[in-house]
Amino acid sequence: MTRLIDGKAVAAKVRAEVAQGVAEYRARHGRAPGLHVVLAGEDPASAVYVRNKERAAAEVGMAGRVHRLPSSVGTEALLALVRELNQAPEVDGILVQLPLPPSAHAEPVLLAIDPAKDVDGFHPVNVGALWTGAPGLVPCTPRGCLRLLDELGVELAGARALVIGRSNIVGKPMAALLLGRSATVTVAHSRTRGLQELCREADVVVAAVGRAKLVKASWLREEAVVIDVGMNRDEAGKLCGDVDFEDVHGHVAALTPVPGGVGPMTIAMLLENTLRAARARAGD
Ligand code: GUN
Repeated sequence: MTRLIDGKAVAAKVRAEVAQGVAEYRARHGRAPGLHVVLAGEDPASAVYVRNKERAAAEVGMAGRVHRLPSSVGTEALLALVRELNQAPEVDGILVQLPLPPSAHAEPVLLAIDPAKDVDGFHPVNVGALWTGAPGLVPCTPRGCLRLLDELGVELAGARALVIGRSNIVGKPMAALLLGRSATVTVAHSRTRGLQELCREADVVVAAVGRAKLVKASWLREEAVVIDVGMNRDEAGKLCGDVDFEDVHGHVAALTPVPGGVGPMTIAMLLENTLRAARARAGD
């Protein structure tokens, strides 16, 4: 029997917790935490993501807005906006939606964000804090994965955890979070040899490599807990994960579906990061 992990339900629980925290913050400080999203250009996927973030923030009672810039925007104009948001006391979280248009460079813009307001957790100061176990803001998707593991009650200390994927947004911070919980962590990626053997030894598998239906049932232990971060299209154009859901379902202890698993967690954790940033800035 495979337990299916309902990311929508856990995300709703997180959002309810955040809404409560926002109300308390507001009562204490006379204003709601503010999330400011910078959207440059017309990328259709980014437009959808940003609209969802805007709606989710409003639903939990947060303040803030989306700053829309033309696709011709240059690095300097983005830097000027980020500096203005860094200085504004009512701004608690700043998120620059990626990818930026070709006219702008992402790296200096992300580096310019005040680490205390960096709700994506991409700034090197926050990356360093995560790897050294210091307080800081942690990327939303891996935090969402960890929350799902916690909701399941998975014992991570001493567990063999395999992270497939080494991106700065998911794979690397996921490995740091699991290490922080005393798991024995292996990071595999597109150049890894013997991936099937590594999977066979894993108690926890987090797949975030961007290869449709890569991970098969025969690779996995029956006791394995499998978190699928993949968002791919299969041959029929249907949304699918990095794990072959039909094959794996029924063969492992727990599994996140795609869609409805990790996906809904990302925005919920963004809201939580914004509340955390607001509280930390206020000294709560
Ligand atoms: N584009 C796709 N995912 C993300 C994300 O998590 N953060 C930002 N800033 N841009 C993205």
